[in-house]
Order: sequence, then structure tokens, then C-alpha cells
Amino acid sequence: LVALAKRRGFIYPGSEIYGGLAGTWDYGPFGVALKNNLKNSWWQKFVTAREDIYGVDAAILMNQKVWQASGHVTNFSDPLPSRFDLKDQKSQGRTFNTMFQTQIGAGDDAATSYLRPETAQGMFVNFKNIVDSFHPKLPFGIAQIGKAFRNEIAPRDFLFRVREFEQMEIEYFVRPEDWEKFFEYWRKEMSDWLTDIGLSSGQIQELEVPEGERAHYSKRTIDFEFAFPFGRKELCGLAYRADFDLKNHSDVSAVDLSYYNEETKERLMPHVIEPTFGLDRLILALLVKAYSEDELGGEPRIVLKLPARLAPVKVAVFPLLANKLTLVAKARAVFDDLKANTYNLVATFDDNGNIGKRYRRQDEIGTPWCVTIDFQTLEDDTVTIRDRDTGQQERVKIDELIKRLV
Ligand code: GAP
Repeated sequence: LVALAKRRGFIYPGSEIYGGLAGTWDYGPFGVALKNNLKNSWWQKFVTAREDIYGVDAAILMNQKVWQASGHVTNFSDPLPSRFDLKDQKSQGRTFNTMFQTQIGAGDDAATSYLRPETAQGMFVNFKNIVDSFHPKLPFGIAQIGKAFRNEIAPRDFLFRVREFEQMEIEYFVRPEDWEKFFEYWRKEMSDWLTDIGLSSGQIQELEVPEGERAHYSKRTIDFEFAFPFGRKELCGLAYRADFDLKNHSDVSAVDLSYYNEETKERLMPHVIEPTFGLDRLILALLVKAYSEDELGGEPRIVLKLPARLAPVKVAVFPLLANKLTLVAKARAVFDDLKANTYNLVATFDDNGNIGKRYRRQDEIGTPWCVTIDFQTLEDDTVTIRDRDTGQQERVKIDELIKRLV
């Protein structure tokens, strides 16, 4: 899978020409397309289609006090593995803070801060801004998609554990007494979206995280686990953060982040339910699930059986022969028409190599449909449309092509 992802322009090792940089990966053209499709699906379901969730895009760099108030400076640590202890007896039992520290500004004025280890804090610090601008009624949420960074001691397993990754998170603010109801509600919403993107409940297992293993801010956590080739591991999670963040930010910033209900004239500190998704882990799960090796017409092939609406390319258009100008011109016309008349449908033109090679290339990218313009097309304006998974071809009228593909 790693080899295919590189060969076909999905994911490359970070800084590759310099021997790489552990825990970093670069997304190539098809990787970006897949990632954007996934982000759009998430944003559409959890922000655009709802009236109670507000999208933000906060700065990655934040005032260092944010990370003191959030507990990350004190608590966001992993135990150092024993190989460090051998070299340094004093490090026995020592922990290592996984936030990347950085200096902001120059010289004596420089201030220490951190690359954010979760997008969540960008939403908590904007809680008051959202309330002041939009006056939402409880419950309501803030959502964000963005980069997060963790100086993982042992990055591994391709995109699974990396040092720079993307999160898609929602902080959902509720009345304290309603937390259990909304925890269950979000558990179902998360599971529904995972099903929407093709990771159905059969492959996802929910795990109640016991006390002592939960993050410092969480009073209850459920991990959604996926069966990766290297074991069943956390894909995304749901946490009940109570009023941990708003309360601590109120205390440290001295800005009151409580919520005032105009109707009942009561003031309260909302509690938070947090659904969180790791984008890179979702990409990995989707690729793992999609990757198959089978035989088609007696030929072995690799095929990415990605859901059609997430596939980087939806349709590839081929002239049967690259050296027949009439076929190429007709194929170009069909391709231009598809591009101009379809919303959100990514089409590609391919006349490189023979038809078999082009099918193989598109199968490896996960393109659900290939359309071929042949000699019959020139006579009756029909084309063949080939299905990625079955290899079956059907003749359809060019006029009906768009309807078949969207
Ligand atoms: N705001 C809550 C939070 O950050 P988390 O469980 O620490 O919770 C959320 O992280 C998600 O981010 C995880 O479920 C996982 O998908 C992803 N994630 C965390 N660390 C990661 C890493 N080192 N590499 C890739 N993804 C990671």
C-alpha cells in the first residue's frame, strides 16, 4: 500500500531527497484530492447542513498561556522508553512532553510557545467570540479542520502515528445535565458519518476507555477503533470534557467564559462533548479497506475500491487509439463536455499506452468509471463505460453519460 501510494501520487515520504524526516508524509495530487473529498464530506455533514455548528479556522500558534490553562504543559507527556534510561539513569521513569516548542519573535522579546497538539483549543478560546457574534442557544458547537503537531517518540505505521497531522474536531457545548444525552447523540452521529464514507459498523469497534487511561481533560472517552493491518487501533474518538477547558481558560485569562441564558436569566458554565477525527488515520483506513489484489480477465491487478464520491478521479476518458485523430478529437470533445457540465466531477483524459495499461492505471488510482471512445462512437454517438470493480462494460449514449456518472 505504501509503495502504491507513492507510485501513483497519493502519498510520498516527507523530505524524501534528504533521506526523509521520521513522522512526516507529503500528500501528492491524488492524496490531496482524496483528503479534500473527505474534509468536504465532513464539513458538509457537520457544519453546512446544520444550524447549530459554527466553523472556524484558528491560528496554529497560540499564546503560551493557552497551553498552561489547557493542562498540556503539565500533562501532555509520554513516558520515555527504557532505551533512554540505559543512557541516562536519571531519566528512569521520566516523561517527555510531546508538544513542539518554538520561539515567537526575536532576542529578549522572544516568547516561548508551541505548535498546537490539538485543534480543540482554537475553538475554546473563540467560544466568547462566537457567542458575541451569533448569540447561539445551547446546545451549539464549534468545528474546525486543521493541522496538529506532536513530537511522538516513536512515529510508525505509515500515516497512523505521525508528528504532523490533521484533525477534524467539534466542541459541542451543552447544559451540564444534558451531557449523557448528547454523548449518545454524538456517538451515533460519528458512527453514521463513518458509515457514509464506507467504514461501516462491522469494521469499527467502540471501546470504552477506562479511567486512568483517558486524556487529562476527559471524564469519559470512547475510542472508535479500526482493524488496521498492524492491529485494532484508535481511528477517532468521543470525549466528555465537562467544563474543564472553559473553566480553566476563565481562571487563567480572567475573562468570564460562562454562558448567559437571556430567557431564563441564568448563568452557567457549559459542558463539552467532543467528537474528534484524525484525517490521516481516516485516509489510511480508507486506503487499507479499498486496497485489493484480484484477477480480471485472467490478468492480476491492484485496484483501489474507494467509494465513488471520495475517489480522486471520478471518470477517465480514453480514445481507443491515441494515433487516430478522429478518435482523439471526439474523446477530447466528450472530456471537455464532462468537465464543463458536471459539478464536482473530476474527469481525466488519458491516451497514454494501450487501453489495458490505462485501465490498470485508473484501477490503481481508484477511478470508478472509464469511458472509451471507439470507432462505433463516430457512427452512433455511443461510448463504452467500464465499471472499476466488475470490469464490465456497457454502451451508453453520450447524451446520457453525465446522468450515469453523477
Ligand atoms: N482534541 C482531542 C484530541 O486531540 P486525541 O485522541 O489525542 O484527542 C484525536 O487525538 C485524534 O487525532 C485521534 O483519534 C487520531 O485520529 C488523531 N491523532 C492523534 N495523534 C496522532 C498522530 N500522532 N498521528 C496521526 N493521528 C493522530
